[in-house]
Amino acid sequence: MADWPDMIAYLNGSFAPLAQLQVPVLDRGFLFGDGVYEMIPVYARQPFRLAEHLRRLQHSLDAVRIANPHSEAEWTAIVGELVAQQDFADQSIYLQVTRGAAYPRNHAFPADSTPTVFLFADPLTTPSATLLAQGVAAVTQADVRWLRCNIKAISLLANVLAKQHAVDEDVAETILIRDGLMIEGSASNIFVVRDGVILAPPPSHLMLTGITYDLIIELAQQHDMPLQACEISADELRAADEVWLTSSSKEVLAIVTLDGRPVGNGVPGPIYKAMYAHYAAFKTGVMQQGKDY
Ligand code: PDD
Repeated sequence: MADWPDMIAYLNGSFAPLAQLQVPVLDRGFLFGDGVYEMIPVYARQPFRLAEHLRRLQHSLDAVRIANPHSEAEWTAIVGELVAQQDFADQSIYLQVTRGAAYPRNHAFPADSTPTVFLFADPLTTPSATLLAQGVAAVTQADVRWLRCNIKAISLLANVLAKQHAVDEDVAETILIRDGLMIEGSASNIFVVRDGVILAPPPSHLMLTGITYDLIIELAQQHDMPLQACEISADELRAADEVWLTSSSKEVLAIVTLDGRPVGNGVPGPIYKAMYAHYAAFKTGVMQQGKDY
């Protein structure tokens, strides 16, 4: 722990250096993975789509039946204070709420436990210019997760294994396939382009609807780019002209190699480039105006 960076973090009402914060060993997040989280990007000290992240947090909390410990105004104040405490401007805010600590250990909910609220900030690392220009490789794997992947739960073992598979294969992401359909990445959403149309898998209980996913759909509408929400088979994924991954930390990134074979021409495609430009412009607007419109 001594090597941990000493940036200021937040735990249950107090701000303190990250390495000093501790939670009880009987916390249900530790014992059961019983909690939910958000990862919120911050550009030039402006939290990006905070209201949307807080809405998704509420949805996750409702789904696992943890009472939201804070109002939207309180969350906004906590995040604002955490952002202000850092000496770097572009941040990745991790926010986690667990069901709290309880004795005895019992799978069922404790009669009374106070949720544990933990946030910390890291410098935000977005893809480099080289990565954006070249795109990345991905592999596919069977989706062995549960049937409530629309909850942003901290119990992420299947996602962890899928991401490690990508690392083992020396690629950026593992795309998960269930019943012949492309679902999402281990930690990202996936879009496909076919014949000039952007295809997005429709939100369902099988995938997490990303805040970035929603923004890509909004940007496509704003800029009259044809987009269709529809199920995408693994075969359609392989035959796609373009494949993109999206997430709060990776933004929009072209996948140019899939399972060792080129996607389309094997380079980031024209629709990707147009969408990335819209995304970058939107981001700049947020940074300059401090407004997430
Ligand atoms: N993960 N699907 C999964 C399974 C994810 O873990 C993520 C993001 C997304 C994209 O969601 P968003 O656009 O809201 O970041 C989709 C975050 C980055 C994480 O786990 O840290």
